[in-house]
Amino acid sequence: MQTPVPDYLTHVLSQCAANSQGALADYIPELAQANSKHLALALSTVDGTIYASGDDTVEFTIQSMSKPFAYALALQELGLNAVLDKVDVEPSGEAFNQISLDPVTKRPKNPMINSGAITTHALIPIQQGEQRAEKLRQFLSRLAGRELCFDLKVYESEIQSAFRNLSIGYMLRTVGVLAQDPLEIVYGYIKQCAILVTVKDLARMSSVLANGGIEPLTGERLLDGAVVRQVLSVMLSCGMYDSAGDWLSSVGIPAKSGVAGGIFGVLPGQVGIAVFSPKIDTHGNSVRGVKIFERLSNDMGLHLMQGTPSAQTILQSRYVLEQYQDVIVYELRGVLQFTESEMLLRRLQNEPAGNSTILLDLTNLTLVHNVGARMLFEGVKRLHADGHTVKVVDSENILSEAQLKGHKREVVNEALEKYLAKFHS
Ligand code: DON
Repeated sequence: MQTPVPDYLTHVLSQCAANSQGALADYIPELAQANSKHLALALSTVDGTIYASGDDTVEFTIQSMSKPFAYALALQELGLNAVLDKVDVEPSGEAFNQISLDPVTKRPKNPMINSGAITTHALIPIQQGEQRAEKLRQFLSRLAGRELCFDLKVYESEIQSAFRNLSIGYMLRTVGVLAQDPLEIVYGYIKQCAILVTVKDLARMSSVLANGGIEPLTGERLLDGAVVRQVLSVMLSCGMYDSAGDWLSSVGIPAKSGVAGGIFGVLPGQVGIAVFSPKIDTHGNSVRGVKIFERLSNDMGLHLMQGTPSAQTILQSRYVLEQYQDVIVYELRGVLQFTESEMLLRRLQNEPAGNSTILLDLTNLTLVHNVGARMLFEGVKRLHADGHTVKVVDSENILSEAQLKGHKREVVNEALEKYLAKFHS
């Protein structure tokens, strides 16, 4: 049997193919030459599988989709406070290339609009002789798992007509947000926008963000979890510019678009998605790209606000093994976060004080968040105080050493019954 996922992606593309609305981004002359028929879609899982369909080998320039990654690089290298000193995180409700600053803070409103992105570009730390765009290209190549290149034709073409971005650069220099020569920074920012990617590259880059900063295939940590959280938050509130509210309500996935027609979205812990279709709307977002995301979000239940309740299913079973002097087994499953631990502790609260042995079996858990581990051990402490003996069976080492904090894990290599027989002999 073959998984139906690629067929589904192809079906979605065919349903959206006929839509010819929008226009090519002709303010960058080279982009006006793009083939408006191109249409591609890729989806990556957090364990590194990529499904793709349509024109998935066609390269196009990353444009504004470079902005969240430049922001990530600046955050990773300088820390949150240093970056917040220069760029705010408020949705602007204005066009992406608006020549504006926040009237109170005198900083760019967010790193997704051009003024914030030009400022973020300047924050990328470099050694003498290095170029910031090159540093970002190397970083994006690591995220994409292959060497990415610049499209120098698109770069030169945008330089020829960069009057608006230059005005933004000089404004930023005038108010002291930029300390460097604005010409160098604006040209560097335009070069960062000219990095070539395919939808598969973007899906792979997205999967690192979906996976909390860890490259799914190599297991290498490329970004701190806190950096990813910050980047995705800003993508959610500001990534689609002055249509961010529409996007949030209809799609509900943190995302970023580029004027060459790409959009990528990241659903934390689940998937990365990338689309490419060159015709854009008045906000600078790909018309067919937006439609495809709406469709995927609805069909696949990907909207962030449509959470899946898992608290009810945390307890797979509770049974009593009388032959072992009242051993009570709690078999857990799924993910242990706050709501699941609350549910578990509420069930444990029903155990009357006494001297039973309570066995908390974590073997079928797939993930334990720190709050889940903290609450679990708080429960263990309270059950001890009630007179019970409590054993935490963690044969798959789901708890990290940090989460164990000196508590003991039981490793059961044979059937639970055999373990209990030994335990009571
Ligand atoms: O700075 C610009 O205008 C372009 N290099 C990038 C703008 C962009 O991609 C806007 N997003 N959709």
